[in-house]
Amino acid sequence: MNMERRLTEVGVFIPVGNGGWVTSTNGPDLPGTYEYNRAVTVLAEELGFDFALSMAKWRGYGGPSKHWDITLESLTTMAGLAEATKRIGIWGTVHMMIFPPAVIAKMVATLDQISHGRVGLNLVSGSNPHDLGQMGLWRDLDHAGRYALAEEWIKVVKRLWTEERVDHKGEFFELTDCMSNPKPTVLPPVICAGASDRGFQFTIDNCNGSFFPASDDPAAIARGRRAKELAAKAGKPEFKSYGLFTLIPGATDAEAQERLDYFDAGVDRVALATQSSEYASDKSAKQNFAAQYFIDQGEKVSSVLGGAMTGSAETLARRVAKTIIEGQLDGITIIVPDFIGDLRIVGQQIVPMMTEFGVETNVSVHSRPLADA
Ligand SMILES: Cc1cc2nc3c(=O)[nH]c(=O)nc-3n(C[C@H](O)[C@H](O)[C@H](O)COP(=O)(O)O)c2cc1C
Repeated sequence: MNMERRLTEVGVFIPVGNGGWVTSTNGPDLPGTYEYNRAVTVLAEELGFDFALSMAKWRGYGGPSKHWDITLESLTTMAGLAEATKRIGIWGTVHMMIFPPAVIAKMVATLDQISHGRVGLNLVSGSNPHDLGQMGLWRDLDHAGRYALAEEWIKVVKRLWTEERVDHKGEFFELTDCMSNPKPTVLPPVICAGASDRGFQFTIDNCNGSFFPASDDPAAIARGRRAKELAAKAGKPEFKSYGLFTLIPGATDAEAQERLDYFDAGVDRVALATQSSEYASDKSAKQNFAAQYFIDQGEKVSSVLGGAMTGSAETLARRVAKTIIEGQLDGITIIVPDFIGDLRIVGQQIVPMMTEFGVETNVSVHSRPLADA
């Protein structure tokens, strides 16, 4: 095995939607409340994680599990979590299509003060017409049009973060002598979850890193390498790639598989069918990576995201480390079924064990005794 040493960032994709990422009536009872997400984020900080990231989601998928029928708004959640923590990165997600750039520029500058420079931003171009359309905020743009908006949006935001006065007349936004103060004390890391080639290109041109689903499946590993290759071609070797992992740990490989089998036995086909049909209704569904991902997922009828890994702590440490090394990942973002018990296993067993397989993190450097351990 390639024993190259690399320092990998570790984050948690906090469950701001009820049920987390198990679409099943047999899933863990995650409430999607601020209180629960605060407990998860405080735990992640104690475990030594580098960042906590929340998604942006506005409408659930119903079904017997009422999947994601409750979701917290991302940036206000991160404002609270910034007060509740001291060190961990606090990253929120924004749909560029629905927020004027000047509003988000100021909200993020405010979050920079609240968090003392720990805020980060995950940009999404929008891919579910129902999610945003229910609020009258879906713009009838195709995939290319959404990224044209995104290009203009992020350029305006960056100017507002660095220039005293901004005049801008573009295709989507108009600003007249716009002043935005305070400025962020540090420019926030900006990542984007666009995983199509167009999405990657936008991300490389405008962001610090790319965020995409990861697993040890060869196609997923190739996706990670592709992000780095495109970045290298663009002369951006510092560009980071963050893989999103779903980990289902168990005392043994067999027990972990039994957990997944139990979740799958209660899979919420109604919620998954709604999710697929909503994404399929995008006129650019073919170019839209997220749409294809969820449409495929609907056909496979699994309670967890494609590429989810089951196993003992050692198995998962080995598989995640292999994915990081072969996929050249700079960071990992973790989804687990239970964000308290399972997250402890990730932070106290899986991540430390990854050292044996050639992956270094700062988790052991930053971890501190758990408050209630
Ligand atoms: C790992 C990952 C996380 C995402 N998170 C969100 C999210 O929080 N909210 C959202 O509406 N879309 C989310 N998306 C969808 C994408 O941001 C994007 O809208 C979609 O992938 C279309 O762009 P693409 O075709 O370039 O991938 C996510 C996608 C991926 C791959």
